Amino acid sequence: MTDRLKERIKLADDFILDYFKKDEKNPVFKAMNYSISCGGKRIRPLIAILCCEALGGEAKDALHFAAAVEMVHTYSLIHDDLPAMDNDDLRRGKPTNHKVFGEAMAILAGDGLLTEAFYAISSARLPAESKSLATGILSYMAGAHGMVLGQALDMEKPDNVVKVINMYERKTSDMLRAAAALGAAAAGGAGDEFDEYARCVGVAFQIRDDILDITSDEATLGKPIGSDEKNEKSTILKYMSIEKAENMITQLTERAEKSLEFLGDKADDLRTLAKILIDRKY
Ligand code: IPE
Ligand code: IPE
Ligand code: MG
Ligand code: MG
Ligand code: MG
Repeated sequence: MTDRLKERIKLADDFILDYFKKDEKNPVFKAMNYSISCGGKRIRPLIAILCCEALGGEAKDALHFAAAVEMVHTYSLIHDDLPAMDNDDLRRGKPTNHKVFGEAMAILAGDGLLTEAFYAISSARLPAESKSLATGILSYMAGAHGMVLGQALDMEKPDNVVKVINMYERKTSDMLRAAAALGAAAAGGAGDEFDEYARCVGVAFQIRDDILDITSDEATLGKPIGSDEKNEKSTILKYMSIEKAENMITQLTERAEKSLEFLGDKADDLRTLAKILIDRKY
């Protein structure tokens, strides 16, 4: 990561840590706080901030929206790890939420994070039009049209490459598209400026996740290796070699960068991020 990107991740991280400190006695908040405050790369908040800045906004304007996307993302991880889904024991280098708090509380912590996200959007000091746009986009992209649909398609095990890519677009790209669109909305943008960028980076991000599930190690990744094999998941690696999948990551990243041409050097940080994500190690 470059210093500029690190600074912006820290802004988002500090905001999130502070946000969840406020209600330590509430048992649901405690379980929510456990999962959202224990690391995570904060890629989605970073994308929100960078998209806001690329359209001339300030990073601080995007913080409530950035945190909202991270809340929805963290909820999706808590539920993704449950026994009924991927049944994993390690997340962000720590025992998964249900291992610590039990399944019922893990479900509720997810519910709490999903709902809190919309409260965070409503609390932003931004024009009502921006908050209304953010609410519409996040609810659409996170729900049964987007990430939740993607998770359902994942459970159904898509049986060809086209269906696998469609599943990736829903379960992974749609949350990155939401992050980009909320960042744009925070700057007074329309919300679709970075859609192609986020879609391509999202698919590449999930392909890399699937490769790392095979090639990495638990200490580096902070989550179990071989989860996909254990669950007999249909990842793209069922249909092509790692080498071919690597080529797809490169091509998708080139497409993502190309889609930013209209912004000139205002999008340099987004270009840098896409390049860094190509060969991320965790
Ligand atoms: C994991 O996302 C789930 C996927 C969509 C691949 P991240 O790799 O961004 O997880 P954290 O937030 O850094 O823990
Ligand atoms: C899940 O994909 C993406 C989500 C929407 C949570 P994975 O199941 O591959 O994510 P990890 O590997 O558990 O983080
Ligand atoms: Mg999963
Ligand atoms: Mg999983
Ligand atoms: Mg995975």
